[in-house]
Amino acid sequence: MKKIIILFFAVVSLCGCCRRSEAERFADDLMSRMTLREKLGQMSQFVTTTGDVTGPEGEPMDINSLIRAGEVGSILNVKTPEEIEALQRLAVDSSRLGIPILFGHDIIHGCKVLFPINLASSCSWNVEAVKESARLAAAEAAAMGVAWTFSPMCDVSADPRWGRVSEGSGEDPYLGAKLSAAMVEGYQGKDLADSSTILACVKHFAAYGAPEAGRDYNTVDMSERMFRDRYLPPYVAALKAGAATAMTSFNDYEAIPASGNRWLLKELLRDELGFEGFVVSDYRAITEMIAHGVAADDKEAAALALKAWLDMEMVSGSYLNHAEALIEEGVISEKDIDRMCRNILVAKYNLGLFEDPFRYGGAERFAKAIYKKETRDFARKVAQESMVLLKNEGSVLPLDSGEKIALIGPFVSSSRSMLGSWTAFRDYDSTAVIKEGFDSRFPGRVTVAEGCTPFEDINGGIAQAVRAARNADVAVLTLGYPGELSGEATSMASVELPECQKKLLAAVKATGKPVVVLLTTGRPMALESVIDDMDALLVVWHPGTEGGHAIADVVSGDVSPSGHLTMCFPRCDGQIPIRYNHKNTGRPLKRAHPNPEKPWAKYYKSCYLNTPNTPLYPFGYGLSYTSFEFDSLTVVNPQVAMGEDVVIKARVRNVGDRDGATVAQLYIRDLVASTTRPVRELKGFERIELKSGESAELEFVLTAEDMAFCREDMKFAQEPGDFKVWVGQDSDATLEAQFTVLP
Ligand code: GLC
Repeated sequence: MKKIIILFFAVVSLCGCCRRSEAERFADDLMSRMTLREKLGQMSQFVTTTGDVTGPEGEPMDINSLIRAGEVGSILNVKTPEEIEALQRLAVDSSRLGIPILFGHDIIHGCKVLFPINLASSCSWNVEAVKESARLAAAEAAAMGVAWTFSPMCDVSADPRWGRVSEGSGEDPYLGAKLSAAMVEGYQGKDLADSSTILACVKHFAAYGAPEAGRDYNTVDMSERMFRDRYLPPYVAALKAGAATAMTSFNDYEAIPASGNRWLLKELLRDELGFEGFVVSDYRAITEMIAHGVAADDKEAAALALKAWLDMEMVSGSYLNHAEALIEEGVISEKDIDRMCRNILVAKYNLGLFEDPFRYGGAERFAKAIYKKETRDFARKVAQESMVLLKNEGSVLPLDSGEKIALIGPFVSSSRSMLGSWTAFRDYDSTAVIKEGFDSRFPGRVTVAEGCTPFEDINGGIAQAVRAARNADVAVLTLGYPGELSGEATSMASVELPECQKKLLAAVKATGKPVVVLLTTGRPMALESVIDDMDALLVVWHPGTEGGHAIADVVSGDVSPSGHLTMCFPRCDGQIPIRYNHKNTGRPLKRAHPNPEKPWAKYYKSCYLNTPNTPLYPFGYGLSYTSFEFDSLTVVNPQVAMGEDVVIKARVRNVGDRDGATVAQLYIRDLVASTTRPVRELKGFERIELKSGESAELEFVLTAEDMAFCREDMKFAQEPGDFKVWVGQDSDATLEAQFTVLP
């Protein structure tokens, strides 16, 4: 039997290789008939003047003429199946070789049905749910004719000033790796030629999540060791999951912009990581190397990108404009062009576009595929699991006792704040806003008062809100940031609540009624200055198309909150960037001082004089309507050899009177290593649903790879030594044990 299985997988892998060589043979045959400009056309992605705008607009292009000339490989911003079909028809019928166009777009948290923003979904810690969300999003996108999504965004970030944290999976590389891989599997499925699967895109390569000062597009400056340990893992996991494409980031890495960075794109991505797909630049990122100051003009920028093995350029036409001259000058060869063009044609072949250029899309197919009940119900489930209950003084929540509710704040009826950013195909009128969810779940019990706009007072608004609160049993305030304040180019020097919202909160709190805050946001916020005015705080993020209903599901207690933070919430702006997996330093705050009674004992430590080091809420934190306890932590094999797995067991119990779910988390610390190591590192997690009184046995297996890091010798490997291990429900878990890896 075993021999049959081995033979089967050998045949399958041979087919896989055959398929790639079959695709390559097809591509080489096609290229033998292509002109140089047609090859450069395949390496060029453009936008239409009528489509979505996702970057600084360049000079308008006559895209139809370019298509007829066979000089458009891909288009990134078309928004309807009819337009996609028309453009594809033009390419297939009017260009010399009829090579199909690859249509791409940013389907990053849904297409027509919007799922919660990615940072929110990451707080569900539900890997299978994230994968299923991607699969459902791909089904809608593919039915429109979009066969390529610019997702997953794999950028680790611990800086909420950077608005794009909303698109990622938070501050931790281990969790980010699991979720990025899941999204690739969801988008691409088992067969790219299946008309409901689409190409994934690992972005933004690389280290885009660490811009100085949290300012988008800003310089990224870090050691290679830090890059490999903290930022690289999610990209690697997504590539290992089979991602067909990757996208370069806007930032420089080691002072060379990613789009012209040969170490990143060839030596690391291709040679070391074995990536065989194709790489696209980000929006005009090649031309922007002029502004970076590494290219005097667009021709030099194109040369840098081509020499860095960047296969496709987005929007600025640099390759079509300059590559022929660069070949004539011997800067690059047509062989280089063939290699890059082949990568793109192979992807189109694997999608089945040459067999049927209209395999993806069609108005009739799209109409049937969108807004399916299955998709909406799943979006609602993911939204429920993404919400994080950070505070619940006196168990104000759930509102399950017939309370009269004053629903107050600028986001009560805002569909934009339900959807967040990257929502090109949205329909606001198909979005369940908070008021809709509340009216449906709490009929006859809800009074609404806007109170203020997101950033400005409303004349008489606070008075109206106070009146509503006084006439109710509980005030529910929708506070935070609007949906358009998340995503690209939305950096903020402060992530506190706007002043008008602080005033509204204080006035409602002063009525003495219980105050529940529903925080809509695409990033962690600095809430220490207002947290005392909140009796309960539920972070709802931008929860998607079903957001209003999902929020009501949780507020009513129909569903117990189960989200856990994947980014710390800072106390104040000055703590940012703040992360749980920080280093200990040589003068840690918790360092035991030989003479603690001495006046200077509190000085000479790594701390602030006016703020604690700890965040307001740590990574991994989240409350439930019930409560969980962890105990019986044991390391089955507390002494292991290098390369041997460590097995860790524990028990979790639901000790409250409600059913609920939590996320059991496993953290380790490498106590002594050849380089400084984080004080804690997430190395295992499991989402657990338990009925009241139920318990479950947990088992985690730590592998040598889990313990590997970029050592002093720059090798990614394990080292012997002593480790601490914790299991609990956030990164401050206290249930502790130890194990040793023997030399
Ligand atoms: C944008 C974003 C990138 C997106 C691309 C296409 O500038 O940086 O994430 O995929 O352009 O819209």
